[in-house]
Amino acid sequence: RRFYRGESYSNLAACLDRGLTAEEQNRWTFEVAWEAANQVGGIYTVIRSKAYISTEEMGDQYCLIGPYKEQCARTEVEEGPLSSNSLNKAVEACRNKGFKVVTGRWLVDGNPQIILFDIGSAAWKLDEFKEELWNKTNIGVPHLDIEANDAIILGYMVAEFLSQFQNTAEEEGEGKPKIVVHFHEWQAGVGLIAVRTKHLNVATVFTTHATLLGRYLCAGSTDFYNNLDKFAVDEEAGKRQIYHRYCMERAASHLAHVFTTVSDITGYEAEHLLKRKPDIITPNGLNVKKFSALHEFQNLHALSKDKIHEFVRGHFYGHYDFDLDKTLYFFIAGRYEFGNKGADIFIEALARLNHYLKSSGSDITIVAFMIFPTRTNNFNVESLRGHAVTKSLRDSIADIQHKIGKRMYEVCLNGRLPSGNDLLNKEDMVRLKRCIFSLQRDGLPPVTTHNIVDDWNDPVLCHIRRCNLFNTTNDRVKIVFHPEFLSSTNPLFGLDYEEFVRGCHLGVFPSYYEPWGYTPAECTVMGIPSITTNLSGFGCFMEEHIADPQSYGIYIVDRRNIGLEDSVRQLAHFMYDFSRLSRRQRIIQRNRTERLSDMLDWRSLGVYYRQARLQALHKLFPDYVEDIENSIGTLKYPRPISEPPSPSSSRVTTPAASLHGSDEEDDSVDEEGELAELRNRHHR
Ligand code: UDP
Ligand code: G6P
Ligand code: GLC
Repeated sequence: RRFYRGESYSNLAACLDRGLTAEEQNRWTFEVAWEAANQVGGIYTVIRSKAYISTEEMGDQYCLIGPYKEQCARTEVEEGPLSSNSLNKAVEACRNKGFKVVTGRWLVDGNPQIILFDIGSAAWKLDEFKEELWNKTNIGVPHLDIEANDAIILGYMVAEFLSQFQNTAEEEGEGKPKIVVHFHEWQAGVGLIAVRTKHLNVATVFTTHATLLGRYLCAGSTDFYNNLDKFAVDEEAGKRQIYHRYCMERAASHLAHVFTTVSDITGYEAEHLLKRKPDIITPNGLNVKKFSALHEFQNLHALSKDKIHEFVRGHFYGHYDFDLDKTLYFFIAGRYEFGNKGADIFIEALARLNHYLKSSGSDITIVAFMIFPTRTNNFNVESLRGHAVTKSLRDSIADIQHKIGKRMYEVCLNGRLPSGNDLLNKEDMVRLKRCIFSLQRDGLPPVTTHNIVDDWNDPVLCHIRRCNLFNTTNDRVKIVFHPEFLSSTNPLFGLDYEEFVRGCHLGVFPSYYEPWGYTPAECTVMGIPSITTNLSGFGCFMEEHIADPQSYGIYIVDRRNIGLEDSVRQLAHFMYDFSRLSRRQRIIQRNRTERLSDMLDWRSLGVYYRQARLQALHKLFPDYVEDIENSIGTLKYPRPISEPPSPSSSRVTTPAASLHGSDEEDDSVDEEGELAELRNRHHR
């Protein structure tokens, strides 16, 4: 068993620092990532959400390092000097070498210090850096690979900074500084190679959040997991023209004092593809914020759902013949890796769900959102028009409503009761008719909100066409492909991603390749049930720690032991079963899901990062810490007390069914309520 819980966290902390603060020990942690204050994918979430506990533990002895990406940095970083002399001096020394370095604090929880290196400012040294890399490691990088060249520049800039810092910290502080530098993913890994080949006296940790080769192999049609031990790695990397990147990744993982991956499944992958087994698994956490009112997250769900309703009214105008009270919102989101993220089987399963709902005569409508950023030529006219005509209707009604109020007041003042004609006059009727007429449309509601570049070859659109999911009136499953990440300034939704997730009913993430998978984890802490797979780090983690994940609203599709067709069928069944839950059951399920948030909190999971850093320090300073392995306990979530222990195949409706069959809104339903129901049932 590799996963442990940080329940003896304080124990460990005592053992680690023996009561001394990081500052008193002259102990420093730098965390280097391409995604520090630079949002690309999940690594940004790791760095950002962890900042709070990192600064809580290390204070200003903790500092992030990344590339300077103007767009993100300008909105997220408050520029200014760093807190200590040694840091500022080292930065100054880098500036004297001609590098542009931006320092300050990242405006996220924990407000950590951050150092950002402008890659362009050291581009003139690229050849020199490449030569050094070649001389030390025999890794040659082609001119045309800009991403790899940038990684090299960042790596050597970071190494220069650390070398300067090591000297100044020794001069300024007491004794030798104990420095741990934690590098994330291959782009930051070059820094690790540079640090080690320059023989700096710093402890290094390397975390990989995926392997390059793994991602590429899975994106093709390879039977990846069954052949992991058989791939000729160099050849496969060569065929995909990523051999040099692969070499950098492999070198970084072997040169690190401590090597970690985000999940067991990626550990297994690394063992075969990078040829090093991770020393520690560092599962990803989140910065969980608990509301003081227990049901606040349920209220937020209702509020955000209303905003999604508003979008749906606009998008489906003219075909808005379904009941929003009986509509469920499903969604998939992430970087656009079509097969890896399981968008292929999601669409296929939606087509089946559509069939199940139609043939069972269900009155439920599912709106499935797909959020995958890709290249577009902005919003399409049809989408914008829908929102314009519904807005015009809303405005007209508000205006007429106001006038009716005034008229009613006048009539009543005259001592009469108003009749229909007194209130709504002919002019109003004409205005309303005009609005209603403009709600007619010739075509069907579009499946996408934007004009997608190369629309004919876009994988989502191709699959939607193949499965005939065209948003016709008869379809019970409607599709909305939003090919851009969400933000609150978005004219269609006006919701940021978090609000959107809260307003949905079910996140569906049937990934094939997913080292961790933040999207379902984020759903969980917001109390939104989700579907994941046993090939994702998150899914395996939940399966290991929870006796019955499904009853907590974590559905795990088997993509490991059964064929593709069976996985699709299982996914379609999960969604169909979910669509049959009553409102009351959904509320109960959300309560249960939300209860899992503690286990995903960095306060529990941050301990593995500490462990990794300390193991690395231990290698450099052998008498620094004692054995820390023993001080970590285990974690298990039992089946919820109110869940009937039926075999999973017979469990159609996940939470205990409502005895009253009532659909009334009740967000105070909780475990006690469930127990009371069970007791009642017993008495009858
Ligand atoms: N995300 C976002 N806006 C969106 C959709 C997704 O910020 O509209 C974020 C989401 O919160 C998550 C990340 O993108 O943290 C995706 O991370 P994940 O680990 O699931 O996948 P990765 O992209 O790293 O493979
Ligand atoms: C939350 C709110 C309730 C609302 C319910 C809707 O629990 O507090 O007031 O009725 O959400 O749930 P649904 O699953 O139908 O969106
Ligand atoms: C990678 C993986 C994703 C993981 C994220 C953070 O981008 O694709 O599964 O959640 O890193 O570790």
